[in-house]
Amino acid sequence: MKRCILILILFSVIVSQAQQLQTKFQPAPAWLKTAAFYQIYPQSFKDTDGDGIGDINGIISKLDYLKWLGIDAIWLNPCFESSFQDAGYDVTDFYRVAKRYGTNADLERLFKEAHKRKMRVCLDLVAGHTSIDHPWFKASQSAVRNEFSDRYIWTNDSTVKPLKHISGKFERNGTYRKNFFDCQPALNYGFANPEPNQPWQLPVTAEGPQKTRKELMKIMDFWMTMGCDGFRVDMAPSLIKNDPDRVETNKLWAEIRNHFQQRFPEGILIAEWGNPMRAIKAGFMMDFIIHLGNDGYSSLFFNKEGTYRHDTCYFNVEGNGTPTTFVNYYLEQLKRVGDSGYVCVPTANHDFQRPNCGTRNTDEQLRTVTAFLMTIPGVPLFYYGDEIGMKFIPGLPSKEGSQLTKGNRAGSRTPMQWDSSPNAGFSTASPDKFYLPIDSSAYRPNVESEMANPSSLLHFNRYLLQLRKQYPALGTRGAIRFLYAEANKYPLVYERSANGQRFVIVINPSGKSVQADCPFSGAVKEFKPVLVDRSSLLKVKDKLQIKADGVSYGIFQVVE
Ligand code: NOJ
Repeated sequence: MKRCILILILFSVIVSQAQQLQTKFQPAPAWLKTAAFYQIYPQSFKDTDGDGIGDINGIISKLDYLKWLGIDAIWLNPCFESSFQDAGYDVTDFYRVAKRYGTNADLERLFKEAHKRKMRVCLDLVAGHTSIDHPWFKASQSAVRNEFSDRYIWTNDSTVKPLKHISGKFERNGTYRKNFFDCQPALNYGFANPEPNQPWQLPVTAEGPQKTRKELMKIMDFWMTMGCDGFRVDMAPSLIKNDPDRVETNKLWAEIRNHFQQRFPEGILIAEWGNPMRAIKAGFMMDFIIHLGNDGYSSLFFNKEGTYRHDTCYFNVEGNGTPTTFVNYYLEQLKRVGDSGYVCVPTANHDFQRPNCGTRNTDEQLRTVTAFLMTIPGVPLFYYGDEIGMKFIPGLPSKEGSQLTKGNRAGSRTPMQWDSSPNAGFSTASPDKFYLPIDSSAYRPNVESEMANPSSLLHFNRYLLQLRKQYPALGTRGAIRFLYAEANKYPLVYERSANGQRFVIVINPSGKSVQADCPFSGAVKEFKPVLVDRSSLLKVKDKLQIKADGVSYGIFQVVE
């Protein structure tokens, strides 16, 4: 009997290892394992030159604050020369910092100042497209063949307009392929499966696509040599066209990763893919579980009032959501990614609503969100302002392409609130010059007051980041086992463990008091409260009895 069990265990270990991704890469740098990230939308972080738009010197002036918070790495949204029809995701010069943010020398200083504080800075690499105003695109419009004729995807007949192709008054006889908005022509990395009789669909190996690839690597080398620590790659799966199985896309990223790691072994590559197991297979070291590709993230957080609207979500005081869509997707991703890379479930980003959105707006509610996000496996990430509970502001005018058919992203892009002065310490400009209006509510949160108040949300979030560092069981690689994650039920209960240490975490985002039972074996002396608000655990025989008041949480250490 014992032998049978042993064989079964061995078999399941082998199967689960086989299900993990086969990696052909050098491991990701070790620092990623314990890093906490912070995303900065540079327009709205801190303005030091009084033009109403944040800048790089502003970011430098806040590095000590980020260090205090417990941040190890920053991801900066695009800060390059741009036409700003998509907030900088429409680059006109990949090698130059946009004037409104400062100079290349300022960015180099940011790298240095961050490094002095043992922090890292990752840039946003818009690999798949440029602005329509990029000099490469202008040259590629010419009827006379030149170096840039094949830098973008053009048909060879203006009357031919396949899906996602845009026509215009170009000297060249053709329509171009867009990558996102019309103003973002797709760079040409080639087609995995060019269609017969469509000679304009160049294979990946053709000279034009190969040159585009080389240029991308040159851009990466340029910033890395200056001191950058890595990239978040915009729309990472979009580069190669007609590649349903991503065979050529994976080859491209594998080539880039190998080149990159040889030169910059401490550098990191983060994908915007929205499917970590695919992104990591392709060569990325980390990817996000967000609103893309699957309903898991949205089913937790998207309510009726954000950029993306859902009728119900789990983190909702009405208590009519379900945790299982997320849990199933997340567990599958964790299992398949294994030790080959990292998942990251961020508090928000610049494309969708913040946790403080609509009816999810109280301090307690926001605590349930971060108590959850900061105690699950994966790399933690705070979107700027979420650490103090900044609000998603509905009804703002569209700004620099913030409006999507789904809703307006501007609500998550408003100026950071540093203090209680009229301009919230964001800028000395008159408010009509601000990139976007600042939250006008009388009690808008700010860093200064929350720093001065040890029981504030800011201190709570800082403490959560400290707990992750203190207890590997709560950290990025600690194991997770969901103890109570039932369809349409509250609370959500899970166990975290590493090196013989165990924690049980209870999260009840609903407004109702709830109770639940689940099997829990082994001797327990005590469930030691580590960070608890109105929830409790009791072990009766082989069962765990859980009680949680409306909108409550608890992190308990299991003492054996
Ligand atoms: C994803 C970025 O996050 C988003 O802000 C942008 O609009 C699109 N990619 C296009 O670059």
